[in-house]
Amino acid sequence: MTQDEMKKAAAEAALAYVEAGSIIGIGTGSTANHFIDLLAGMKSKIEATVASSLASAERLQKHGIRVLDLNEAGQLALYVDGADESNYQLQLIKGGGAALTREKIVAGASDQFVCIADGSKLVEVLGQFPLPIEVIPMARELVAREIVKLGGKPVVRPNCITDNGNLIIDVQGLAITDASSLESQLNQIPGIVTNGLFALRPADVLILGTPTGIQTLTA
Ligand code: A5P
Repeated sequence: MTQDEMKKAAAEAALAYVEAGSIIGIGTGSTANHFIDLLAGMKSKIEATVASSLASAERLQKHGIRVLDLNEAGQLALYVDGADESNYQLQLIKGGGAALTREKIVAGASDQFVCIADGSKLVEVLGQFPLPIEVIPMARELVAREIVKLGGKPVVRPNCITDNGNLIIDVQGLAITDASSLESQLNQIPGIVTNGLFALRPADVLILGTPTGIQTLTA
């Protein structure tokens, strides 16, 4: 089974969490794209979606799936999205696709967050994957200096402007043993819009596609 097939299997398993008549929050990335494509097969059963990126909104609309602004949709029952890493507490690193800010907003507006991934994303300690941080452009150097003080190596992601017009700094070299504290600490640095730790609001369910089948972890 390829990594992509495992992502697709996880996306398929997440369909079981979709309730008829509901509005669903939709993530971003290759695993979320599988979920979007599969959701198209049951689009008449749901009311609408809220997208966490312009790319996902476009893909949903191409399938004829209704996309609402979050402000019109209100509180959502379900958010389905991928991740770059998860630990066993279902705390995540996200933002490899640069959509972390809208992803954190939609996750924060959802009662249940179902994370879908292939099994390679499950790790003991977060931080092998560089931590993405969305930064207001004028704060780039300030944020980079603060990251160095925290022991990280900041690298500005080349040719990347987020849907919100900002930069992404990827932070290498962090072994994140207390993800909630680091998430809070990063939130205090002026110029950081969002950091890619989803620890204060972790996933509720993690569905992993593995070579031997689906593995489901709950918080
Ligand atoms: C998008 O910004 C990310 O948070 C994605 O959810 C994450 O990068 C997972 O992407 P894949 O599903 O493509 O692995």
